[in-house]
Amino acid sequence: MADRTTRIPVIIDCDTGVDDALALLFAVRHPGLDLRAVTCVAGNTDVDGVVRNTLRVLERAGAPEIPVARGAERPLLEPARSARHVHGADGMGDLGLPDPARAPVDVDAVTLLRREILASPRPVTLVPTAPLTNIALLLRTHPEVTRNIERIVFMGGAVSTGNATPVAEFNVWHDPEAAAILLTAGVPITMYGLDVFTRVLVPGVEVRRLRASVEPGARLAGELLAHRPAGPEPDGDDPAGGLGDAGAVCAVADPAGLTTRLLPVEVSLAPGPTRGQTVVDRRARPGESEIHEGVREQALVNVALDVDVNRYVKLWLETVERV
Ligand code: BDR
Ligand code: CA
Repeated sequence: MADRTTRIPVIIDCDTGVDDALALLFAVRHPGLDLRAVTCVAGNTDVDGVVRNTLRVLERAGAPEIPVARGAERPLLEPARSARHVHGADGMGDLGLPDPARAPVDVDAVTLLRREILASPRPVTLVPTAPLTNIALLLRTHPEVTRNIERIVFMGGAVSTGNATPVAEFNVWHDPEAAAILLTAGVPITMYGLDVFTRVLVPGVEVRRLRASVEPGARLAGELLAHRPAGPEPDGDDPAGGLGDAGAVCAVADPAGLTTRLLPVEVSLAPGPTRGQTVVDRRARPGESEIHEGVREQALVNVALDVDVNRYVKLWLETVERV
């Protein structure tokens, strides 16, 4: 493994979560990444469940020393609304993993984020794979952290179709105000949205091989992928499993696998059917709204429009299986 001065310092803010777990497994095993801390927020399940799941995954991955902190237990304005119907009653696939041996650190997520970002010898890449509540609280409480943030690569939003609603993706929909704060952080931002998120699938034959592994981290990866079958394989083989959030961490390790475009993005905060939508402006020229009412100020975001699926699946498999 490269030494700490050459690896990319990374902090993941997550709601573990089946696919957050796949992201953590990748991050701790990639030789070019230096996972310095993990912070937890309510999302897929309640925040205490997220902390428990995160500690379990890190222990199983053989990385029990990475600091983990508990963060916000609900969004800025709304009540928490879990996604347990997708991620299981325990929020991480109900795999019956043992309780973690350790507790989270004794400071909250915002404090740990500030501490680790400012202490890093190189600017940190922040990877939120969850509702953006912790990140918004961090940016509003300690805006000075942006001086040591290289960029933020977040899983959230969608150019086209949503999942929580027809137009809104879960992480943004869960806390739209927090997502709006993130977009105006003043650091380079990459939006790894549903348009690419849903496409990165591990073939069933690989899922089966991982599940049979004697190495605990790889076996856990297989069990997690099997919990989220992406539909039957065309040849009747085992179903493929989605990498989900893990694709956003692949994009940090290997940015060339992602095609992005710098585009204006705005979060819809209006009540009603568009709330939580990421409105991405892909028009080639200004429209009547700009001509008659002037140009609105909007964040410019590197929006992921395409992904090299085979490249990321290969990268993720090689990384998770290397021990
Ligand atoms: C996002 O929502 C969660 O259920 C997943 O972990 C992912 O971060 C996808 O909309
Ligand atoms: Ca997540």
